[in-house]
Amino acid sequence: MPGEYAAVMEEWRRDPAAFWLKAADAIDWIRPPRQAFDGNAGVYGRWFPDAVCNTAANAVDRHLAARGDQAALIHDSPLTGSVTRWTYRDLYDRVNAFAAVFKDMGVGKGDRVIVYMPMIPETVAVMLACARIGAIHSVVFGGFAARELAARLDDAAPALVVAASCGIEPAGIVAYEPLMSRARELAKVSPPVVYLQRDAHRADIPEGDHELGPLYEAALAARRTVPCEPMLATDPVYILYTSGTTGHPKGVVRDTGGHMVALAWSMANIYGVAPGEAFWAASDVGWVVGHSYIVYAPLLIGATTIVYEGKPIGTPDAGAFWRVCADHKVAALFTAPTAIRAIAKEDPGGELPARYDIGGLRALFLAGERADPSTLVWAERALKVPVIDHWWQTETGWAIVANPMGLELLPVKHGSPTAPMPGYEVAILSDEGEPVPPNTLGNVAIRLPLPPSCLPTLWGDDARFRAAYLDAFPGYYSTSDAGMIDEDGYVFIMARTDDVINVAGHRLSTGVMEDVLTSHEKVVESAVIGASDPIKGQVPVGFVVLRSGVSAEGLEAELVAKVRQEVGPVAAFKHVVTVPRLPKTRSGKTLRATIKKIADGESYTMPATIEDPGALDDIQAALAAHGHAL
Ligand code: COA
Ligand code: AMP
Repeated sequence: MPGEYAAVMEEWRRDPAAFWLKAADAIDWIRPPRQAFDGNAGVYGRWFPDAVCNTAANAVDRHLAARGDQAALIHDSPLTGSVTRWTYRDLYDRVNAFAAVFKDMGVGKGDRVIVYMPMIPETVAVMLACARIGAIHSVVFGGFAARELAARLDDAAPALVVAASCGIEPAGIVAYEPLMSRARELAKVSPPVVYLQRDAHRADIPEGDHELGPLYEAALAARRTVPCEPMLATDPVYILYTSGTTGHPKGVVRDTGGHMVALAWSMANIYGVAPGEAFWAASDVGWVVGHSYIVYAPLLIGATTIVYEGKPIGTPDAGAFWRVCADHKVAALFTAPTAIRAIAKEDPGGELPARYDIGGLRALFLAGERADPSTLVWAERALKVPVIDHWWQTETGWAIVANPMGLELLPVKHGSPTAPMPGYEVAILSDEGEPVPPNTLGNVAIRLPLPPSCLPTLWGDDARFRAAYLDAFPGYYSTSDAGMIDEDGYVFIMARTDDVINVAGHRLSTGVMEDVLTSHEKVVESAVIGASDPIKGQVPVGFVVLRSGVSAEGLEAELVAKVRQEVGPVAAFKHVVTVPRLPKTRSGKTLRATIKKIADGESYTMPATIEDPGALDDIQAALAAHGHAL
């Protein structure tokens, strides 16, 4: 691959420290880094160990002089019929007001703040207010239910919880207070909660909790300001919980300094977006895409970020994305393939984009799940701009493999997110940890150290970090994805190797759903797999074995409701199938991959280690009886 990309990779390989120190020039430091990387610190080393900085100072304050009147954020909400514009000066005032309120409540440097808020501009300001005072925010996605919220409360042990009164979904209001109150009953900790009331639904504030609005409005009216807390580049800026193999979510820690350096580099070199342009990540602030590309990256470079409270279809139609691109002159759009599949289903001929003036749109970026070639082709034809698949994880915070549009557009191979970005030495390893030849499927691993922004550890748990990511292949970070690299160096990401499934771009643990199923008194055992779905990519299907003698009447509906209540509606858990036994290996491991193949109607080879081959016939028969597509 000749050209700019090759030159940049060569520059990074020759001297990674010099490469990242140069990238660090994009950030305003309180004490600039002299050392790029300390290999002796932390679990595998730490980035910019001697530097001091503040994220809010970089995302807000430093733009005031040149961009005070430029839109920092445009909230476009078809769900409430409103559009709100905040300039950088507005954002500065609002971040300071929230910061003043949080300080008054005693929140300080290093304290955790759980944020349970939907896609409203105040959520962005609350996150930045935490960064301003050195508090570590942990945003919990609004589609998560009480049990998941409780797990995050217990792990983060926050000093404060900031919640909105509700989220708004096309089907109606999602009241947050009952979920929050239930979570506090389930959790071992019970931090104070402040609620920001929304007009659509006002929460009944429980005794001991407070309304945030009046405090915030008073601070705003008084134009209170709070200085930016000097933070070590290695101090955490946030924790974001993500699904792992066990039922217990992993608290991915994000460094303050490395995060900013990597994100600023990515905006220029991957997304090719300049200060002053509008960037739209159509995701949710509850996910990593939202953290990196709704909140931090666009603001760090002085771009305008679009905060969209709506859906790809139905709000009001499949032209909504193109309407937003036209209205706000979006230069680059980033979404999950599932959103494009949903749009393409309603607009198969790709006619709606032409009804809007989207001439300013230079590229569509896709991530969060595998981008199937037919979705890519639909988008290329409909939008007539490059459609760029890129691969990353909550753990990294930015793309591992991408097509660096800002540097040069490499030839696209459908099905491949293209090539590794600087900092990532991607390897395909056998289960024994040996590199495999080109075009051979294996475990996708990244040679240590990971580049800036990638997690240094899991919150409060170095041992779990090592066990989950570093122990499988010594010297490498294991991504838990399977894939291959072809003879041209293109990376292909095919599937997860753990029990994580991807439902409409949302990363979910089958282990969590299995825990919920087996906690039902009638269920002895369960297995949840991600069956293929034409829109959502995967949807969970649960298989349950019942206690002998109990009645199965009404149980399937009850279990569906239980998962919805305990995990959340976003799991889209709609299928439970009762089976007499689960197929297992002789060592007792459930053969989930084989069950998935049967559910997807694919051919499978009988696993050599299967205990009882008849169990597979039971799965087949139960699925047929259930009516699930085979
Ligand atoms: N708060 C509360 N509930 C939420 C929610 C939120 N933030 N987000 C979703 N839900 C609920 C929905 O209301 C829905 O509930 P229902 O079962 O009562 O209908 C359920 O969770 C599933 O929602 P969703 O995933 O949005 O599925 P859908 O069938 O309503 O819509 C798509 C399908 C493809 C349009 C939708 O999944 C989508 O927009 N996907 C894009 C996802 C995305 O951007 N991911 C970002 C990762 S990078
Ligand atoms: P999350 O941490 O929620 O961003 O999910 C990360 C996981 O989503 C990865 O480990 C992959 O399994 C999957 N994923 C994300 N982007 C892609 C992509 N472009 N192609 C294939 N899989 C992807």
